[in-house]
Amino acid sequence: MSFGEEPNLRHIAVIMDGNGRWAKSRFKPRIFGHRSSVSRVDSTIEYCTENDVQALTLFAFGRDNWSRPKDEVDDLMELFLKTLENKAEKLHKNNVKLTVVGDRKRLSSELLAKIEEVEKLTAQNSALDLRLAVDYAGRWEILEAVKSLCLELSGDEERIRDIEMQDFEKKLVAGSLPVDLLIRTSGEVRLSDFMLWQLAYAEMYFTKVMWPDFTKKEMQKAVDYYYTRQRRFGKTS
Ligand code: IPE
Ligand code: IPE
Ligand code: MG
Repeated sequence: MSFGEEPNLRHIAVIMDGNGRWAKSRFKPRIFGHRSSVSRVDSTIEYCTENDVQALTLFAFGRDNWSRPKDEVDDLMELFLKTLENKAEKLHKNNVKLTVVGDRKRLSSELLAKIEEVEKLTAQNSALDLRLAVDYAGRWEILEAVKSLCLELSGDEERIRDIEMQDFEKKLVAGSLPVDLLIRTSGEVRLSDFMLWQLAYAEMYFTKVMWPDFTKKEMQKAVDYYYTRQRRFGKTS
């Protein structure tokens, strides 16, 4: 199936879950699962570029994930840094634009510098808009957007009453492009505070497959499922 003719699958978002359980079932430490998940990120990006998907948002680290043991958080931050170092050229070569969406204040200066470097390198690329959600949460994003609008309008009642949906969406760090298809691996059927605004009319695909096993073939199953759905957006069929 060519997506060139199917303009309605523009944006896929993925809650990449199950790394820890995947590792545990192999009697390995959790970080082994996280490391093994990098090749699934690769293949998912590849799938999207091969099939003309416009945007892919990957949930890599949630705001609530800071509450995990410090060792795991440190390992994950180290993995983000190394992965960005290792993959930057390949992303650029494949014409992928990378943006990190989330709160940048709590990231190390080293990681932040690397993020900015890769964002700058890939800024003009157009094959895929890849957003990596790091220190991200949907409710946080919405609250930040509210604060930003309030500051901008500084109590101007008339302008506040005139706020349109589009004005608000401009303030969202994860952007205004609606998610068409949400995928969550590992068998959990919940959103865990991911893209609450952009998921408003998304089709949802939940699979028991753990993220390190989520190959291109599994991705294809998710997309096939998507094309069985009739999206009505509140209208009748
Ligand atoms: C998802 O896998 C990756 C992150 C949240 C960083 P988990 O680490 O949540 O794996 P499980 O859910 O414990 O198996
Ligand atoms: C959500 O997964 C966050 C990411 C995949 C990055 P979690 O594993 O942290 O979510 P819960 O705790 O199971 O809801
Ligand atoms: Mg999990």
